[in-house]
Amino acid sequence: MSNKPEGTGIDSVLNESRRFAPSDDFAGRAHMGSLDEYHKLHARSIEDPGSFWAEIAGHLDWFTPWDKVLEWEAPDARWFVGGTTNLCHNCVDRQVNASMGEQTAIIWEGEPMDGGEPEIRRLSYADLQRETAKFANVLKSLGVKKGDVVTIYMGMVPELAIAMLACARIGAPHSIIFGGFSASAIADRVKDADSRVIITCDGSWRRGNVVPLKDNVDAACRQVDTIEHVVVYQRVANPVEWHHEPSESHNNKRDHWWHDLMLAASADCPCEPMDSEDLLFVLYTSGTTGKPKGIMHTTGGYMVYTYYTSRIAFDMHANLNQVYWCTADIGWITGHSYIIYGILPNCVPTLMYEGAPNHPGPDRFWDIVERHEVTQFYTAPTAIRAFMKWGDEHPKAHDLTSLRVLGTVGEPINPEAWMWYHQVIGQERCPIVDTWWQTETGGHMITPLPGATPTKPGSCTLPFFGVDVAIVNEKGEELPNNTGGLLAIRRPWPSMLRGILGDRDRFIETYWSDIRTESGEIYYKAGDGARRDDDGYFWIMGRIDDVINVSGHRLGTMEVESALVAHDTVVEAAVVGMHHEIKGTGIAAFCTLAPGVKPDADLRDTLRSHVANEIGAIAKPDMIRFTDALPKTRSGKIMRRLLKDIAEGRESTGDTTTLEDLSVLAKIRESDE
Ligand code: WTA
Repeated sequence: MSNKPEGTGIDSVLNESRRFAPSDDFAGRAHMGSLDEYHKLHARSIEDPGSFWAEIAGHLDWFTPWDKVLEWEAPDARWFVGGTTNLCHNCVDRQVNASMGEQTAIIWEGEPMDGGEPEIRRLSYADLQRETAKFANVLKSLGVKKGDVVTIYMGMVPELAIAMLACARIGAPHSIIFGGFSASAIADRVKDADSRVIITCDGSWRRGNVVPLKDNVDAACRQVDTIEHVVVYQRVANPVEWHHEPSESHNNKRDHWWHDLMLAASADCPCEPMDSEDLLFVLYTSGTTGKPKGIMHTTGGYMVYTYYTSRIAFDMHANLNQVYWCTADIGWITGHSYIIYGILPNCVPTLMYEGAPNHPGPDRFWDIVERHEVTQFYTAPTAIRAFMKWGDEHPKAHDLTSLRVLGTVGEPINPEAWMWYHQVIGQERCPIVDTWWQTETGGHMITPLPGATPTKPGSCTLPFFGVDVAIVNEKGEELPNNTGGLLAIRRPWPSMLRGILGDRDRFIETYWSDIRTESGEIYYKAGDGARRDDDGYFWIMGRIDDVINVSGHRLGTMEVESALVAHDTVVEAAVVGMHHEIKGTGIAAFCTLAPGVKPDADLRDTLRSHVANEIGAIAKPDMIRFTDALPKTRSGKIMRRLLKDIAEGRESTGDTTTLEDLSVLAKIRESDE
């Protein structure tokens, strides 16, 4: 029986009572093999985080040791204070130095299946060392120095990994923009980060089509004037425009081919010693205003935490022939932390797949799992729901017996999808790790440990080591079990965000202002609603702010609204999330139009493409309704709750007494979809 908590629209399945314990066989070989062991170590990690994290950090290489594990003055944390290291070194050079240079670091598979065979590339740690060193020298030759933000807008090709590792090698923070974002989204992010160099591809493959990445960069460059260099990796060999400068000198040209620059580059480029708190990257994520936030992550703490969560949550062993595959795009935090930075230091090959899950057929993922004998598979609930819909025959046509651990991330997984994943993909043999975390947290925060934690479908279970999470009210008081409340984190953890680029006030307002105890302590507010059950297991109920989670990707409703009103036909827009079978949450937009504009199907198409141009295809509304007025309170605030009811075809049962004009609702209900 399921139960819908008021206002969240997400099944929290209060009575879900199924439990799945790890098999003895799995537990016997796992890093963490019992719940007791987990509880003991978790208690130690909370009581004495200093010694706990020092021990883990000692698994990795440091150029100079830290003086102090943690300095904490809320909301500012400094981890491994005074230590220097380099994340590219720990991902690549460390393996080469340990005589593992010939082992595979990255397995890459391209999307096209011409002649029935995909293109496959395997890069060893030695290859990665040579290529990152060369590309690091390329960046230097373009004037990039330690601290300069480099923008990366590429498809899923190994050169994307090389570019990011090269940035880390020389201490230039990267800002990676997902290849599905539009030119305006690139321009906004480039401006915000004051970036002078963009790395891109001529195009990328997606479901048999070319995504024109270079064209989008050209369009973005017309909107900002800071870009001095664009480096283009040739992937699809589509025609691209070339930006010529009259000057002949290398440094005055804007556009460069990756392969030309690499020809001349030396393979000798030592890793720059980075202070533990030096900026590693900026990654933009949506918030409740129209402007995305540049989330900042630094070097040492992020490195230690992503390395260790990968090791424990995916049960990674360097000597067991494992092949790990995360299906995310590197443009999202999941790809940063769990395709590259957390995985490479574990010496388990990380698989990168370029394209769509249903190209050329709906069994592509299972074909990849079978051919590469994937052992750990990490994907999103939206993908799982799509696989369910496409039919069991596709996974059943493949040998999936190599799989050991399955993972999910990005949004709450409905128990039905969880059970399907367990039965059809995991064949009732593989533990499922439902990992709750955020761009801001850098790594897994609440997750089962596959050899230790009995799982319950739909629950992300228990906090990771060092994580002190609680369900509280705004005074920081813990709520009783099974009561929905704010998900708060009460202590610092190594991979926590260090701020929002250039906006200290917004950092404090967004995360560190709403939950304050009577004694004046402040807690990190995740922005999710959740509850804890009697076993201490966490159940995420979804976002509590104006952020929606579409196919596991965060979008601010304000961002979509700003895009809509930027079109001359739209006077006012309100956007809400609505239930969607595959995406989890779809986008419903309510628009009032300028006088004389005809509200017809053509306009709907126009507005949908307009939003795709402004933000990217993921932000296209699933439903647009035209209306004369929006439901507002007397103080002028749009009542989104009521619009959500309409979008989902429900009667509004909540309070409507603050509504200024009741007839508005009836009119919207009568409008066409
Ligand atoms: C949601 C993705 C339920 C949540 C790593 C969070 C989840 C937002 C889960 C962060 C999960 C992520 N169960 N909800 N296992 N994982 N979320 O920044 O609402 O893209 O706040 O990071 O996704 O999304 P982001």
